[in-house]
Amino acid sequence: MQVEHCSAMFRVYFLSLLGLLFHTVAVHSAALQHVSRQQCQSTGTHCPSGTIIVSASDNRAHYATIQGALDSLPADTSSQTILILAGNYTEQLNVTRSGPVTLLGQTSASKDATRNRVRIIWAAANKDNTGQSVDNVFSSVLVVAPTLESSLTGSGTTGYAVPADTPFGNTDFRAYNVDFDNTWSEYSDGPAHALSFSRANGGFYYCGFYSYQDTVYVGKLGNAYFYKSIIAGQTDFLYGFGTAWIQSSELQLRGCGGGITAWKGSNTTFTNKYGVYIVDSNLRAANSSIAPDIKGKCALGRPWNSQHRSIFAHCYEDGTVDSSGYIDWVVSGVARFEKGVTLMAEYQTYGPGFNESGRVAGGVTTVLDKKAYEPYSTPQKVFQNQEGVLGNTKWIDWDTVKAGN
Ligand SMILES: *[C@@H]1O[C@H](CO)[C@@H](O)[C@H](O)[C@H]1NC(C)=O
Ligand SMILES: *[C@@H]1O[C@H](CO)[C@@H](O)[C@H](O)[C@H]1NC(C)=O
Ligand SMILES: *[C@@H]1O[C@H](CO)[C@@H](O)[C@H](O)[C@H]1NC(C)=O
Ligand SMILES: *[C@@H]1O[C@H](CO)[C@@H](O)[C@H](O)[C@H]1NC(C)=O
Ligand SMILES: *[C@@H]1O[C@H](CO)[C@@H](O)[C@H](O)[C@H]1NC(C)=O
Repeated sequence: MQVEHCSAMFRVYFLSLLGLLFHTVAVHSAALQHVSRQQCQSTGTHCPSGTIIVSASDNRAHYATIQGALDSLPADTSSQTILILAGNYTEQLNVTRSGPVTLLGQTSASKDATRNRVRIIWAAANKDNTGQSVDNVFSSVLVVAPTLESSLTGSGTTGYAVPADTPFGNTDFRAYNVDFDNTWSEYSDGPAHALSFSRANGGFYYCGFYSYQDTVYVGKLGNAYFYKSIIAGQTDFLYGFGTAWIQSSELQLRGCGGGITAWKGSNTTFTNKYGVYIVDSNLRAANSSIAPDIKGKCALGRPWNSQHRSIFAHCYEDGTVDSSGYIDWVVSGVARFEKGVTLMAEYQTYGPGFNESGRVAGGVTTVLDKKAYEPYSTPQKVFQNQEGVLGNTKWIDWDTVKAGN
């Protein structure tokens, strides 16, 4: 008994010593195995261990489709990386797991979204093959949400009533140098998402989102950060209920319709900062052939409900922007703009699209001063968790953002 106890003690001691030893060895080999996102993306080396490779043609690949790789991930909280080799992938993606997921697009120009070589393509609007309308989510190239219900747009001022007991979805989704292209039509022909992002936290770096209507949807409890990305559209192409921060990106106007932003506010027990914040970005006609046709015609946004909140800060606006800035949205004779409730704003925007007297004449755009902009001036001030606690930004890749790489 006594002896057994002793040997058990010794075993514990010995095992923890061994553990310590292994720990040291593991740390050393991790240090030797230098991980570099850019090298992983350009050469397929120095990837995080366990990186899954996708390609329809390359024999290094573990999966031929991206969804195949996503489906192989364990339903746990482990961090997982998928390297997508250059190519066009015609598929819809659906990320439901809660553990961190990183999608890396193969590229040797990791700081330039115009040179992305991974393109995920799907052609759909909110109609099924008999022409019956279906929820917008079914049109999306990429869906990130824990359940179908949490991703539904729904209708009415409050949208789809997501069951309160729905769990939170992905806590840290990241995509680098991937284009999401909804090729349904070459003009607004109903909602056609490139992205649907709800009940999740995620960052998109050097990505492209291409469609004409409702290109990017950030739904309920969605926190999405975009960095040096391209978002192209015509009608309401940044819309949703959640919180989106678009940093140093390009908004490409492929036509005008509705507004660039169409947000729906929600009542919560805490003060929420739900809305879309477009910062240090450029708003321009998609190309010089379309520019003359849309000159002075594109509105910055319109209120999807009266609690719409959007701010363009330090943005360049080309001559495409409507002199009134934002516009109202009148449905069955009822104007949705509500003074003191709706916030459709600009802060230090500049360029030919900014017409100060036009903004005043339009009567719905708020030009913020420094003090009024202050509560919205950083991602830390707007991204909240489910309980409304601010500063929910751990999932943002600050190394990339700070270094500009
Ligand atoms: C992907 O599609 C684009 C546009 O259709 C085409 O220009 C490009 O060559 C395709 N890339 C590959 C690798 O097939
Ligand atoms: C995404 O996957 C989940 C789990 O399989 C499924 O319930 C949901 O319907 C899918 N979403 C879409 C839009 O297909
Ligand atoms: C310019 O953009 C419009 C809208 O996307 C498109 O229809 C047209 O083909 C583009 N023209 C050129 C020359 O790229
Ligand atoms: C939020 O509450 C206000 C005040 O009660 C109400 O007028 C508004 O319709 C509500 N909005 C939503 C989206 O429920
Ligand atoms: C600016 O707005 C004013 C007031 O609506 C309008 O008269 C003027 O033509 C606009 N200027 C330009 C360059 O569009």
